[in-house]
Amino acid sequence: MGTAPLGIVMNGVTGRMGYRQHLLRSILAIREQGGVLLSTGERVQVRPLLVGRRAAALQEIAERHDIEDWTTDLDAALADERWRVYADFQVTSARVAAIKRAIAAGRDVYTEKPTAETHAEAVELAELAAAAGVKNGVVHDKLFLPGLLKLKRLLDSGFFGQVLSVRGEFGYWVFEGGWQPAQRPSWNYRAEDGGGIVVDMFPHWNYVLEDLFGRVESVYAKATTHITSRVDERGEPYAATADDAAYGVFELEGGVVAQINSSWAVRVDRDELVEFQVDGTHGSAVAGLFGCRIQPRNATPKPVWNPDVPDARDYRAGWLEVPDNDPVENGFKVQWEQFVRHVVEDGPHPYDFASGARGVRLAEAGLESSRTGRRVSIEAGVPAR
Ligand SMILES: NC(=O)c1ccc[n+]([C@@H]2O[C@H](COP(=O)([O-])OP(=O)(O)OC[C@H]3O[C@@H](n4cnc5c(N)ncnc54)[C@H](O)[C@@H]3O)[C@@H](O)[C@H]2O)c1
Repeated sequence: MGTAPLGIVMNGVTGRMGYRQHLLRSILAIREQGGVLLSTGERVQVRPLLVGRRAAALQEIAERHDIEDWTTDLDAALADERWRVYADFQVTSARVAAIKRAIAAGRDVYTEKPTAETHAEAVELAELAAAAGVKNGVVHDKLFLPGLLKLKRLLDSGFFGQVLSVRGEFGYWVFEGGWQPAQRPSWNYRAEDGGGIVVDMFPHWNYVLEDLFGRVESVYAKATTHITSRVDERGEPYAATADDAAYGVFELEGGVVAQINSSWAVRVDRDELVEFQVDGTHGSAVAGLFGCRIQPRNATPKPVWNPDVPDARDYRAGWLEVPDNDPVENGFKVQWEQFVRHVVEDGPHPYDFASGARGVRLAEAGLESSRTGRRVSIEAGVPAR
């Protein structure tokens, strides 16, 4: 093994995403398997440096997982050449400032989404990274959900004929925090702290739609705050100032119409927490996190609307489950492996800061649409991929 370990500064590892998905399920799983396999057949091992604000929390995680390096001093970490990659899983509002410091220090950067709170800042990050010549990547985990991988396989096989429309339902009830603790952090519900379902979910919808169906050309959205008061982690009531539901219509390149509801104030009467129905001239599919079922046109029933006669047909029974066929790995880990290859041997990684900026642009356009009541066009190539 001639390849030295890749040092990765991991900022925000005490958080939900930082700890579980990025540290446990990705970097430690990669370390456990002996590193990332390169095209040469060699492996590059990863070495994390945990960074955060609370020494005790970092030390506890480091000891629990046999990690040698942790610090509360981000600048010292960035100044140390042993750590080539900076990774950010902090609350969104803390991200831009930290990434700017990492770029200035010449580090390659990988980050959670959204890359910034505003499109202007997201584009600035993309420009700064390009000017500094540092590699940059942003999470695009939804593309790795087993259900969406099956959907991609259907699209690639031509199953749908011409895709006509996409209807997405994402959401579940997030407890208000009073009589039952909330299952998401309270900052998600405060606009002033970078919260809101539009800034949280529209960046995901952007790369999902773009990758599977076509570039988003316009959006109409109604964002609203259904639950206006919640109780935080310390049991204190607070005003929920951020949107907790968004009802969006997206027009895509090529004429596909996508409609996606995103809500933290809806009770689940679906098989999965997210489901996309795709209707095409030759067939339809309903894809969730894990499952995906299809109905080809040759097996499509002919319903007749008649309010006088109860409908005995079991419509659900007419769908076919798409098999898994191949084992699916954790998406966050697969993305990390791609990014490590991108850093070490220049492997492909199209989900860069420009892609992240397009996601932030869609969120900003969605909020603008909601504010003005107008459909907002999204200019192509801003910034160009
Ligand atoms: N890809 C996904 O599916 C997905 C899902 C949820 C969240 N996220 C994104 O991941 C990021 C983290 O979200 P989370 O749910 O893990 O949040 P979290 O609140 O659980 O964790 C946030 C982390 O940031 C740190 N932090 C909190 N306030 C800070 C501050 N003022 N300055 C610096 N650091 C601070 C915390 O200590 C913690 O380590 C967000 O940007 C969010 O948009 C992505």
